[in-house]
Amino acid sequence: MRTNSKPKGLPYNFKLIGKKVYHFNELDSTNEYAKKIAEPGTVIIADKQTKGKGRLERNWFSPLGGIYISIILKQETPVITLIVGLSVCKTIRRYGLDARTKWPNDILVKGKKIAGILTEQGQAYTIVGIGINANIDVDCLPEEFRDCSTTLRQELKRDISKGELIEVLLGKIEADYNVMREGRGSELLEQWRSLSAVMGKTIEVKTPGKSTKGEVVDIDEDGALLLRVKNGNIEKIIAGECI
Ligand code: BTN
Repeated sequence: MRTNSKPKGLPYNFKLIGKKVYHFNELDSTNEYAKKIAEPGTVIIADKQTKGKGRLERNWFSPLGGIYISIILKQETPVITLIVGLSVCKTIRRYGLDARTKWPNDILVKGKKIAGILTEQGQAYTIVGIGINANIDVDCLPEEFRDCSTTLRQELKRDISKGELIEVLLGKIEADYNVMREGRGSELLEQWRSLSAVMGKTIEVKTPGKSTKGEVVDIDEDGALLLRVKNGNIEKIIAGECI
């Protein structure tokens, strides 16, 4: 249940992303709220979520101290998840951390998840939800995530200004989104590859009903993962989870 449904405007001044910014003390899920607004360019921010959603029907633990943002865009292809993930990765790297992208939607620091992206498609819009473990103690995370997750507080041994991070992040997303719209998405995918935690590694990818093991050789322009499997063939994986 929302405790404060009155949006407060924030002083962001971007042309595409954040034309309107609604900031709540608490929401069930910023993605769910964004679906009701469905107005491209609008950004929804919550200080905490009571029903944060992760990929694959999972919950996204969303206590105070984390960063929870949804951006409403006009309809985009799935590559938008990688592009926004890249913007998140570059923002976290500004804090001196060796953040890496992990296909399709994770951002890692020292191999542990620090942020995740949940992209949902509507009739005429796309919602990109971003969750960042910011000023949170790892010990507060649900037990099953403690070993494979980290937080900015844990890595930096201090708290960051969430407002500053969000401002930098929205600026990067706006800049990267513009590059994509100008037809220069390949430049962004090149950056994504150079920051990838999985490129060249042998991994296993779980897709519905199947699991595929192989060496990551590339990502293509649609954001699909290209895996060299045992018989030497290249398999294109459109959706799945690296395990
Ligand atoms: C994942 O890694 O599984 C994706 C996590 C995405 C979480 C964010 S938090 C803001 C937005 N609102 C949600 O309910 N989920 C996304």
